[in-house]
Amino acid sequence: MACARRRTPASAGFVNAVLRRFLREREALVPALRQEVPAARHQHPRWWIDQVRRDWPDRWEALLDAANQPGPMMLRVHARHGSAESYVAALAEAGLQAHAVGARTPQAVLLETPAPVQALPGFADGRVSVQDLSAQLAAPLLLGGLPGSELPALPAGARVLDACAAPGGKTAHLLELADLDVLALDADASRLKRVDETLARLGLQGRTLAADARDTAAWWDGQPFDAILLDAPCSASGIVRRHPDVRWLRRASDITELARTQTGLLEALWPLLKPGGRLLYATCSIFRAEGAGQISSFLQRHPEARALRAPGHLLPLPDNRAEAAGATSSPAAGSGDGFFYALLHKSPAS
Ligand SMILES: C[S@@+](CC[C@H](N)C(=O)[O-])C[C@H]1O[C@@H](n2cnc3c(N)ncnc32)[C@H](O)[C@@H]1O
Repeated sequence: MACARRRTPASAGFVNAVLRRFLREREALVPALRQEVPAARHQHPRWWIDQVRRDWPDRWEALLDAANQPGPMMLRVHARHGSAESYVAALAEAGLQAHAVGARTPQAVLLETPAPVQALPGFADGRVSVQDLSAQLAAPLLLGGLPGSELPALPAGARVLDACAAPGGKTAHLLELADLDVLALDADASRLKRVDETLARLGLQGRTLAADARDTAAWWDGQPFDAILLDAPCSASGIVRRHPDVRWLRRASDITELARTQTGLLEALWPLLKPGGRLLYATCSIFRAEGAGQISSFLQRHPEARALRAPGHLLPLPDNRAEAAGATSSPAAGSGDGFFYALLHKSPAS
């Protein structure tokens, strides 16, 4: 009311009447609105609801509901500082209940109740980081050498490009697991500083560089990479529960624009990969245009590329953690964020 009086004094009486009537009729109005207006019922803009419905006709309502629930607080224990189980014991001593989760994410620990990072034992000394369960799949997928993986493990000293690295969660995870020569790029110099801070806190070494990854003439030294991680900019439709404003800030046209950027990044970086090398494409999106659709077009354009294991969307639903990328199967894990992963192999003969 104060705002209406200040900005448009002539309308103050009308605004007052509307607000008073709403207060009087709230009990009837809110359920009716939820019944009749999808945006009110699902707490998402109409275009977003339609997109989720088109992409996931069997699960769209569950996905929209899940986006309105807070995500669990998942930790990643620094692999060079101990196991998930030993960290769970340290948390218990500090009065925090937690458990280890997931065969494919062996460093993951789920906190039963979220806590500030300062309360986590050894956080300042790099013993642990906060990272969602689905995000913890990236480093092991790129490194290979897992049971059932078609790819041998990347050898020590392998040249790895992390093309969209900030704030550095996946760069750090890679370096915690293996001795690699990592170049971490990001177009946003201020966000890139967070990669340096993260690596320093965790006691890890990697080179960082502020650059548009697509402008390879400006930053590439001409030496091909053994492996590339492309964690591309996207709509963030898989992490809405952690960033509730995302759905209201985006426009439908952003998805087309983001998909174009993702295609540009894929096309610019693929030639930098050694024949026989691997590229992991990732987005924290549940929209097919940024995941399965993007990769099926890429595979059509590039006969020298092959998808290792079926590319897959991970949905942020309790019953759907595994899909093609192979997440944890522990029912206690809680769901990971929505993600898409495609691991691409470049023919050695190309
Ligand atoms: C999804 S985030 C990366 C998250 C990061 N991999 C992690 O695990 O912490 C995408 C990043 O891409 C960066 N980015 C966007 N366009 C880029 C471009 N053309 N070249 C390099 N980085 C870009 C953004 O600044 C943003 O930091």
